[in-house]
Amino acid sequence: MKILVTGAAGMLGRAILEEYDGAGHCVGVDLPDGDLTLHGTALELMMRHAPQHVIHAAAYTDVDRAESEPERAHALNAEGTRMLARCCTSLNVPFTYISTDYVFDGEVPDGYYEDAPLRPLGVYGSTKALGEQEVQSAGGDWRIVRTSWLFGPGPKNFVLTVRRLLAERPTLTVVEDQTGCPTYAPDLARVLRLILLNKGRGIFHATNAGATNWHAFAREIARCSGADPQRIRPCATEAYPTPARRPACSILRSRNLESVGVGPRPSWQEALGRYIAWLARSEPLQPGAQ
Ligand SMILES: NC(=O)c1ccc[n+]([C@@H]2O[C@H](COP(=O)([O-])OP(=O)(O)OC[C@H]3O[C@@H](n4cnc5c(N)ncnc54)[C@H](OP(=O)(O)O)[C@@H]3O)[C@@H](O)[C@H]2O)c1
Repeated sequence: MKILVTGAAGMLGRAILEEYDGAGHCVGVDLPDGDLTLHGTALELMMRHAPQHVIHAAAYTDVDRAESEPERAHALNAEGTRMLARCCTSLNVPFTYISTDYVFDGEVPDGYYEDAPLRPLGVYGSTKALGEQEVQSAGGDWRIVRTSWLFGPGPKNFVLTVRRLLAERPTLTVVEDQTGCPTYAPDLARVLRLILLNKGRGIFHATNAGATNWHAFAREIARCSGADPQRIRPCATEAYPTPARRPACSILRSRNLESVGVGPRPSWQEALGRYIAWLARSEPLQPGAQ
């Protein structure tokens, strides 16, 4: 099966390409190959690559900047998704859209199953929710895979930020009143592959197992990196204001993965350990991380 992956230079896109490396025909495209907000790009990419499946991981992902650039976020996350999804439907090509926990408001303390009503708090979540609607109204053979708190190989993520700040400062402060499910991009890529293999359809919640808050996540990053976790202090969201409001509790609960035969996912702690071991092999030692 030839799979076209959009956003291939991004964190998830590169993990998907890595997952399929050598095992199939996976073609990655990103902004230099075509701007998905422009009319004609979707069809041009489909004609050029003739895929048998499209995984749409390209997105406007800057949650805070989206608040001041709503048109740009909408152009890709909603409009770009609409154009690509419709193109796939008209060419009879199955389509997989990657979405986010930020389509929920975070007011439900136990988290959200796949069929929970969407109620995004900010521009990013709203445009991703519109993208979901576009996928469904395009018809055809679609999947929406929501995930959350991604980390993994790439230039920028929460794990790298915490490790850099630990190397620069004696202590740091991280919010403890936002709860979610950290997810290792290579583990998500593996789940995506299983969904496609098992011909899953509909909405899926795909994260690593377990939930935590950003402060506890940061402490675990410190511990796995050989630094003292006590150097990371807790604070409340209101002490660290950001342009975009974020859900207080966006745990993604899963029923549908199980129904297409996807087994239990590794815990986020185990996945974090694997990522930090990978970093240790591939990056120079961080001075001051002890
Ligand atoms: N990161 C998370 O924590 C998280 C959480 C939940 C869900 N998700 C979802 O997971 C998916 C992958 O996220 P990610 O973190 O891997 O994203 P990412 O690293 O920001 O990658 C997105 C890619 O899309 C490309 N892109 C931007 N504008 C484009 C355009 N107009 N046309 C074509 N490509 C364009 C970007 O290129 P440039 O870099 O050149 O702009 C980038 O390479 C997204 O759908 C996101 O909404 C992410």
